Amino acid sequence: MKNSVKKSISTMQDESGNQLSIAGNWCNLRNSKRFRMKTLLKTITAVIGILLLSSAGLITQTSPWNAPKESDALVNPLKNNTASVEDGKKLYVQLCVVCHGDKGKGNGVAAAGLTPKPADHSGQKCQSQTDGAIYWKLTNGRPPMASYKTTLKDEQRWALVNYIRTLAAPDKKSKGSASK
Ligand code: HEC
Repeated sequence: MKNSVKKSISTMQDESGNQLSIAGNWCNLRNSKRFRMKTLLKTITAVIGILLLSSAGLITQTSPWNAPKESDALVNPLKNNTASVEDGKKLYVQLCVVCHGDKGKGNGVAAAGLTPKPADHSGQKCQSQTDGAIYWKLTNGRPPMASYKTTLKDEQRWALVNYIRTLAAPDKKSKGSASK
């Protein structure tokens, strides 16, 4: 293959000096160290790009989502504040039901098109986490779920945690709460 290319280039040289010098330059460049460096740099850039995308959750969206350990130590300032559950419910209906569903089962109207699927707030997997971890997750979000850090006040976010606790399936209630 390489030989045949070389041959055709040398033929071109005989016929048309101009064209050959373009083909010749291109060949030199391709074989030069500089070209290989460029290719290497492009490959490295592409790999870094893919890593950035996946760390943003755009590619590896199905990896488990774990709140950092420190979040377990966060103290719920509205613990046992039953009035806050009502506030949490209002916010939940306004902002969360569209994805998580009205019973928190992860089957809201927007859920079908999402990867990963919205979490089931009534299930063991969610309810076994501490208040702090749930608070941390709804504060920070993860695509396709938004962060509510700036759109909701601290108190509103804790009220949501308290409301999420009421969604627990009967046999899973209050397991793993930060303080019992
Ligand atoms: C655009 C759809 C969408 C909306 C709106 C949304 N979420 Fe989510 N939520 C998700 C998805 C998807 C996940 C799963 C993310 C993952 O596993 O990476 C999730 C996960 C969570 C989790 C983690 C549950 C667990 O078991 O670890 C909590 C807590 C949560 N959402 C709370 C909320 C609250 C509270 C609201 C409203 C203020 C809300 N979400 C609004 C899509 C949404």
